[in-house]
Amino acid sequence: MLFDSHAHIDDEKFDADREEVIQRAIENGVTGIINVGACMASSARSIALAEKYKSVYAAVGIHPHDAINALEADYEQLAQWATLDKVVAIGEIGLDYYYDFSPRDVQHSVFVRQLDVARQTDKPFIIHDRDAHGDLLDILKKEAKGLKGVLHCFSGSLEMAREVIKMGYYISIAGPVTFKNAAKLPEIVAKVPLERLLVETDCPYLTPQPYRGKRNEPAYVKLVAQQVADLRGMELTDLAKATSENVRSLFKL
Ligand code: NI
Repeated sequence: MLFDSHAHIDDEKFDADREEVIQRAIENGVTGIINVGACMASSARSIALAEKYKSVYAAVGIHPHDAINALEADYEQLAQWATLDKVVAIGEIGLDYYYDFSPRDVQHSVFVRQLDVARQTDKPFIIHDRDAHGDLLDILKKEAKGLKGVLHCFSGSLEMAREVIKMGYYISIAGPVTFKNAAKLPEIVAKVPLERLLVETDCPYLTPQPYRGKRNEPAYVKLVAQQVADLRGMELTDLAKATSENVRSLFKL
């Protein structure tokens, strides 16, 4: 029993075989998938998938890459979508200073506005953070008091992991934990409390070994979970059960 806490199966890379991909996930023990929006259009596609497939849930939000295109009316729409049964989170939202596709002041304001939507609608958030750890923590401290959420594809230090866990958040581990150059991730994965860990694919990106370079899909969350279990000296079944329970608790499923 596994849960892919972060996927993008609405991506066009799945247009030819989406049904089979979802089926293959189920056959591999992946009983749930959270499909995460990155702009208004992909958020709408996430909802459509969640309405069509029992095992799929939706998150709605505007990624920092797309922050430059956010309109005032979008926040109202996100809040409205958040009232739907299978919409479980606001995401993915946050900061990306690696690509800087949107100006940083715009990334900040769109992020804060969506934290407000999470607060208004009583939903947890899903954070994207790339090379923006300091500003991200500052904004969370100021603007996210009392909210719950997860830092997806965690890429910070062990100190940052401990800090965000102390703030009440979860961290989610993706395919890079299986890479040879995984850097600090193995130590982080081994040391953080199991009650705050999620696993994900972020498919079609970040394909775990041994399929690195090919298209990623939710069935491969098993490879991420196996690596996390190995690093913690646990059985895969126990890790799968614990991380799935964490998903159910955070997203109130
Ligand atoms: Ni993503």
